[in-house]
Amino acid sequence: MRLLVLGGTKNLGRHVVEAALADGHEVTLFNRGLTNPGLFPSVRRIVGDRSAPEGLTSGEWDGVIDMSGFLVRDVGLSANVLRDRCGHYTYMSSIAVYASKTDVGMTEDALLLDWPADAPEDQFSMDLYGPSKVRCESLLTATFGERTAAVRSGFVAGPYNPDFGNWGQALARGLPMECDARPDQPIQYLDARDLAAFLLHLTVHRIPGPFNAVGPTRTMAEVAAAWRSVVPDPPAMDWSPAVERFHLPHDGSNDGTFLLDNSRALEAGLHLRPDAETARDYVAWVQDGNIPPEPPH
Ligand SMILES: NC(=O)c1ccc[n+]([C@@H]2O[C@H](COP(=O)([O-])OP(=O)(O)OC[C@H]3O[C@@H](n4cnc5c(N)ncnc54)[C@H](OP(=O)(O)O)[C@@H]3O)[C@@H](O)[C@H]2O)c1
Repeated sequence: MRLLVLGGTKNLGRHVVEAALADGHEVTLFNRGLTNPGLFPSVRRIVGDRSAPEGLTSGEWDGVIDMSGFLVRDVGLSANVLRDRCGHYTYMSSIAVYASKTDVGMTEDALLLDWPADAPEDQFSMDLYGPSKVRCESLLTATFGERTAAVRSGFVAGPYNPDFGNWGQALARGLPMECDARPDQPIQYLDARDLAAFLLHLTVHRIPGPFNAVGPTRTMAEVAAAWRSVVPDPPAMDWSPAVERFHLPHDGSNDGTFLLDNSRALEAGLHLRPDAETARDYVAWVQDGNIPPEPPH
């Protein structure tokens, strides 16, 4: 398949590109050439900025995977130029689209955030992250109809991505494992490689619609126990670290974010590897000298 990846060189996107190349797809990257410019030297790259996507005005692709769509204006520009020259368009969205942060078991049909009146469509701010994702999803549906999917993920871990604060380093070096969340805090997360495989799967098989691409809900203590199981003599857990590590509100005001219904994604083909595999690979990646990126705030 001729596959266009918008982005593809930082944390999540690099796994998409690796998975696509491993499956024999013909990949084109579109990015500014700023982030890890030496990555994937044999892959065709169109250098350009999403705010002026002239580089996309020629060429045809069977599928597009959009990892870098934050601004409504920019997503609108690339959707317009690609409308008649691509097959399926898979958009990397977020669980930040949901209006409620406390409802339990939200499906993809749950109420989404509104777009604030007079908000700018061409400037990024964290306040607009969720509303922008909602607007980009609906813009893409209006443009591509049944030819588009939106993948809503939350916390994503794994090599080249953050872990739960310091867990990879702690397990690799015998330091206390720190976490500034309640031990009974519900949590859902996904291995970055499982996310990449799902993005690719939806694109190759042209599966439309929104998907909660998240793992099962467990407590932080259960996830910590699974991660600790991968070393013979695991370090102690510190649930009140002096430094803020993986802070989640202790009052439950964000718990619904990690109690999402993922059945639609599982039925569509989302594969979830065991925690121990993610943890083992992560620790090995840290031991290889890689410095984990900061988790999102
Ligand atoms: N990490 C998480 O836990 C998480 C959770 C949910 C959703 N997401 C979503 O995942 C996506 C980001 O993942 P990622 O950063 O790991 O993706 P990525 O595809 O690995 O990296 C971002 C890419 O976008 C390119 N880029 C950035 N600004 C650009 C611009 N103005 N024009 C053209 N290219 C641009 C960067 O290259 P250049 O700098 O060279 O241009 C880079 O290749 C976002 O859509 C985010 O909302 C992430």
